[in-house]
Amino acid sequence: MNWTGQLLSLVCLALAYTKVDSRPRLDALMVHEWTSVDIEWPSDAVKQEYIKNGSFVAEKNIITGIKVYKNQIYVTIPRWRTLTGIPVTLATVVQSDVRSKLRPYPDWTSQTVGDCQSLQNVQSMEIDPNSGLMYVLDTGRIGILSDAVKPENLCPAKIVVLDLNTNKQVASYDMPADVVSRDNNFMNDIVLDYVDGQVRYAYITDVLEEVIHVFDFLTGAAWNVKDADSMKAEANGEDFINNGVNYTFTVGVDGIAMSPDFDYVYYCPLAGYKLYQVPTSSLRNGSAQGVRPVGKKVSQSGGVIYSDKSFYYGALADNAVYSWDAQKDARDQNVDIGHVKLTTEMLVAKNNQTMQWQDTFAVDECGWLWFVSNRLQLFITDTMDFSGREINMRIWKVFINETSYLQGARERTAILPIIG
Ligand SMILES: *[C@@H]1O[C@H](CO)[C@@H](O)[C@H](O)[C@H]1NC(C)=O
Ligand SMILES: *[C@@H]1O[C@H](CO)[C@@H](O)[C@H](O)[C@H]1NC(C)=O
Ligand SMILES: *[C@@H]1O[C@H](CO)[C@@H](O)[C@H](O)[C@H]1NC(C)=O
Ligand SMILES: *[C@@H]1O[C@H](CO)[C@@H](O)[C@H](O)[C@H]1NC(C)=O
Ligand SMILES: *[C@@H]1O[C@H](CO)[C@@H](O)[C@H](O)[C@H]1NC(C)=O
Repeated sequence: MNWTGQLLSLVCLALAYTKVDSRPRLDALMVHEWTSVDIEWPSDAVKQEYIKNGSFVAEKNIITGIKVYKNQIYVTIPRWRTLTGIPVTLATVVQSDVRSKLRPYPDWTSQTVGDCQSLQNVQSMEIDPNSGLMYVLDTGRIGILSDAVKPENLCPAKIVVLDLNTNKQVASYDMPADVVSRDNNFMNDIVLDYVDGQVRYAYITDVLEEVIHVFDFLTGAAWNVKDADSMKAEANGEDFINNGVNYTFTVGVDGIAMSPDFDYVYYCPLAGYKLYQVPTSSLRNGSAQGVRPVGKKVSQSGGVIYSDKSFYYGALADNAVYSWDAQKDARDQNVDIGHVKLTTEMLVAKNNQTMQWQDTFAVDECGWLWFVSNRLQLFITDTMDFSGREINMRIWKVFINETSYLQGARERTAILPIIG
């Protein structure tokens, strides 16, 4: 372990002891909660102006994406269901007057609707803990999940790279329109692929196009990989019951995860139970060769994630988070990860009231699994209670003693010098 690695583990150890107290290991801890989002405004006068002219409508804002780096929480607030009313689409979470508030990240200017240098509509991002860079997905389109408004196709879809240590943008890549459609993309979630010690590819699920977009950071090329059967809503997979209410979500490929050896990408349609695996060697060369179902989840999921050891997913009908121990299954079945059937399932967290719709996950450098639960089934159907009687959005963390699939990827994927 190098010097920074040692320092980090000391910091993590201190955090673990101060944060866990005497609670049992696998208890999920609630870190932040909201009835409706609250923003850290420059002043109350500005807030009142935003409310008066319709630029801030609290009930149109929902927290979806989460990633964590150096104990700082980053979240997204997608511009899904209206064209106005959502002033901030990427934020950090800060505690102010005992309330949890969203601080625009990296700043207010970068949230400007209609300015293509700014962020238009962010749902997902990935953080590379090796570099402290955040890779932000921006669909470039707003109002893309609404029956009431027609989407506005304002800007090209792009990946914006932000340096979390300097809070500066270091790169921005427009996606070619013939790969990521200007008028129909819904880039949903992203994982990164390391080759030769550096970030080489991004794999992005698109729930409207039902493809995986591939972007090559080295050459700037982009292409799509489509496997129609596994990337569309599963037959009989779109209905589920949550706390006695029926919901139908006919949504294709959504959750995506990367194995820690960078050999396989995992994905699943939101509407469905099956988890699929595809070799990165196929995605890298533009094919879906080798796609196979690897396991049947207990329920439909939004987000999924692979740590450096295990696979985690949300179970929408069950208000729960489960994990699969792929390494144990591979040992038990005496096969490699490319042939294993995932069966060793463990309940990580469950609560019918407080953990509805586990939307996205993150694993930090200190061994914690983080997730957002946001009752999205209510938000999307306009049945969310904003009166103050209910908590709608929560940020949770559970200590799993694992780290991100990306942690240490530089060393793991570096080309070894040839000695001879
Ligand atoms: C609403 O008011 C805010 C604060 O004065 C201003 O920045 C924004 O441009 C206004 N928006 C509209 C649509 O008028
Ligand atoms: C949670 O909901 C499920 C499904 O409706 C039900 O079977 C279970 O008993 C509930 N658990 C609790 C603790 O209420
Ligand atoms: C909910 O869905 C189940 C299974 O499809 C069905 O049997 C039931 O009648 C539905 N309930 C309602 C209230 O629609
Ligand atoms: C792409 O990669 C897969 C998996 O390694 C391989 O089987 C296939 O032949 C490759 N296709 C092309 C066009 O190179
Ligand atoms: C975390 O896992 C490591 C082995 O990977 C182990 O040595 C250590 O004791 C574990 N820490 C806790 C707090 O469980």
